[in-house]
Amino acid sequence: MLELRNVGARFSGFTALHDISLKIGPGERVAVFGHNGAGKTTLLRCAMGDVTDTQGSVTYNNEAIVPGAVYRNARLGLGFVPQGHNVFRDLTVEQNLAIAGLLHDRKYVAEIYRLFPILAERRPQMAGSLSGGQQQMLAMGMALMTRPTILLLDEPTTGLAPIVVQGMFASLREINRTTGAAIVMVEQNVAATLRMVERAIVLKTGRLIFDGSSAELQAHEDLWSWF
Ligand SMILES: Nc1ncnc2c1ncn2[C@@H]1O[C@H](COP(=O)(O)OP(=O)(O)O)[C@@H](O)[C@H]1O
Ligand SMILES: [Mg+2]
Repeated sequence: MLELRNVGARFSGFTALHDISLKIGPGERVAVFGHNGAGKTTLLRCAMGDVTDTQGSVTYNNEAIVPGAVYRNARLGLGFVPQGHNVFRDLTVEQNLAIAGLLHDRKYVAEIYRLFPILAERRPQMAGSLSGGQQQMLAMGMALMTRPTILLLDEPTTGLAPIVVQGMFASLREINRTTGAAIVMVEQNVAATLRMVERAIVLKTGRLIFDGSSAELQAHEDLWSWF
């Protein structure tokens, strides 16, 4: 269970998040929506302990997420896929996955290839020459090599073709089903995302303005139609 209690975040005096309290349970699928600058990325970064000027507290399975101690926090079972395609461009697919799994069970790579068969086909290819969608799959695969029990994704489908987006959502659904990991994803693509999550959070200028089921948000067209 990820628990944020009265979390605030500041960047050189500017308050990007105000008093956010929420809980995300094991295996839940949750979307985070909001306009540009609403604080979505900051929320994910606070969950990882990647923002130092914060108020309130974050815990994962009752262990403190310590601001500034990202690597230690990650070992509690959090996986983070930042925005953009975070791969080592000059290393092969296989090398990228091996590095991500260094401190973990390297045999788990077989599971990544099962989830993303295209990565198995492209094993010896330089990551930088993969398509945008394939790079995103590799970035997800790298996060999965640490066997997270909660996966935080920042706009995983931005810039991808609609057909690739559908495949990405299907993969996330499969990851959630087979590994049992909770999924928390920041997304711009509200209508499509609402079909794969069970719950949605909406931020507006750093405040939580909605936290409820996706069906409930779907019914509030006035609330989501402006994204
Ligand atoms: N490293 C930073 N330094 C200064 N301001 C930041 C920093 N990161 C985010 N902000 C500000 O905090 C607010 C929220 O940003 P962000 O969480 O990136 O929003 P979103 O992901 O919803 O677009 C924005 O006003 C942004 O300019
Ligand atoms: Mg962002």
